[in-house]
Amino acid sequence: MKTSSKDTIYRYAVRGGNSLKGEVEVGGAKNAALAIIAASILTDETVTIENMPDVRDTNVLLDAMAGIGVIIERPDRHTVRINGSMVRNVNIEYELIRRIRASYYLIGALLGKYNEAEVPLPGGCNIGSRPIDQHLKGFRAIGADVKIERGSIIAKAERLTGAHIYMDVVSVGATINILMASCMADGKTIIENAAKEPHVVDVANFLNSMGANIKGAGTDVIRIKGVSSLHGATYSVIPDQIEAGTFMFAAAVTGGDILVKNVIPKHLESITAKLIEVGCRVEEFDDCVRVSRTGKLRNTQIKTLPYPGFPTDMQPQAGVTLSLSEGVSTITESIFENRFRYVDEIMKMGADIKVEGNTAIITGTESLTGANITAPDLRAGAALVLAALAADGVSTIDDIHLIERGYEDFEIKLKGLGAVIEKVTDERSVKKFRMKNAKVS
Ligand code: UD1
Repeated sequence: MKTSSKDTIYRYAVRGGNSLKGEVEVGGAKNAALAIIAASILTDETVTIENMPDVRDTNVLLDAMAGIGVIIERPDRHTVRINGSMVRNVNIEYELIRRIRASYYLIGALLGKYNEAEVPLPGGCNIGSRPIDQHLKGFRAIGADVKIERGSIIAKAERLTGAHIYMDVVSVGATINILMASCMADGKTIIENAAKEPHVVDVANFLNSMGANIKGAGTDVIRIKGVSSLHGATYSVIPDQIEAGTFMFAAAVTGGDILVKNVIPKHLESITAKLIEVGCRVEEFDDCVRVSRTGKLRNTQIKTLPYPGFPTDMQPQAGVTLSLSEGVSTITESIFENRFRYVDEIMKMGADIKVEGNTAIITGTESLTGANITAPDLRAGAALVLAALAADGVSTIDDIHLIERGYEDFEIKLKGLGAVIEKVTDERSVKKFRMKNAKVS
């Protein structure tokens, strides 16, 4: 595991001004991997997961699962073997779980397997209120008695029975949780208004590879026919749509030329469309996309929406890019209410952004200047690194452990593209970085 230890406080030092050029390889999708890790315990047989990203969130979930008796082996950095036959109890240690949002998948997995689960309420990024009423509605619909007590969700069922569930909001987490809880229920479950995100499809494919009978994932009606048991499987996680999109926007914001490899171009269509609108050239190949920009960045309008709309997880990266475009752009955030926390930070670099309700009005500026800034959450943190790469001079970015929750070797990959970026610990190393990288190339 290469993420920073929680005792050492790291920050990035970045000297902006280089156009990023070259090739970068995208890892497995963090959000698919989290659900697949949890779903692995639905069988007593061993599951092998390939293309596993080595990021903080997946590692914390694996640690939490080891804490309840799941046997975890890591034959290599991107492969994990999971055997859930020895799960000791269904009560998950609070401290580990609190740190990640996806811990709620353990409720669906444990309930689906043992008909009972007790899991502390989830943590995760502070991007706004994150209710789980749709998850609970789904569990209740298939026969579980669900209550929240002492900061934990407690779900129990005599037996789980298929049901017809209409989701009031399109929720990735609730859709996946219901898939897990219902795949061994008696009879048929139908989820209407289901989320269509690529990672929902990936989890359904994974469960099917274990013997589940799930049809319709990727559309808004998913049909699950309960099976009596699931078996072991070997499965490869899909590429990370958001990591890919982040590098695509890195090419846009720095006026670079990047070949982003190991992607599914179809999953990137809404991102590609916006990059073309702001003046980039995007070429699609079988499993890679090339993004380049030579002219000026143009303004546009963006509204975040469930898939296939523009992803909320790409909104900060787009906002940073638009702050350097010509004219006035708007971004409307319709999924989470607290996703403009990068705005205060990027304004320290000279951006001109006004947030009114769930809309950011962005007046493009010619250039940004380096500043000392802080990552407010995972995606906003990555976006601010992009801002620093495009800015004149040196920036420092604090709280990069949040970025490491979802990006593997972020600074190493950026360096490979010509970025001047280092992971540093103290003021002395920042000073050294400044001296070494004083000249803008
Ligand atoms: C997942 C992703 C996150 C991404 C988000 C939207 C993981 C671990 N995280 O989060 O990176 O930003 O999808 O693509 O995969 N809602 C309710 N009730 C519920 C559940 C959700 O009202 O029970 C609302 C949320 O407040 C939000 C919207 O539905 O406004 C979408 O949330 P959801 O798709 O559930 O997001 P997460 O699964 O938490």
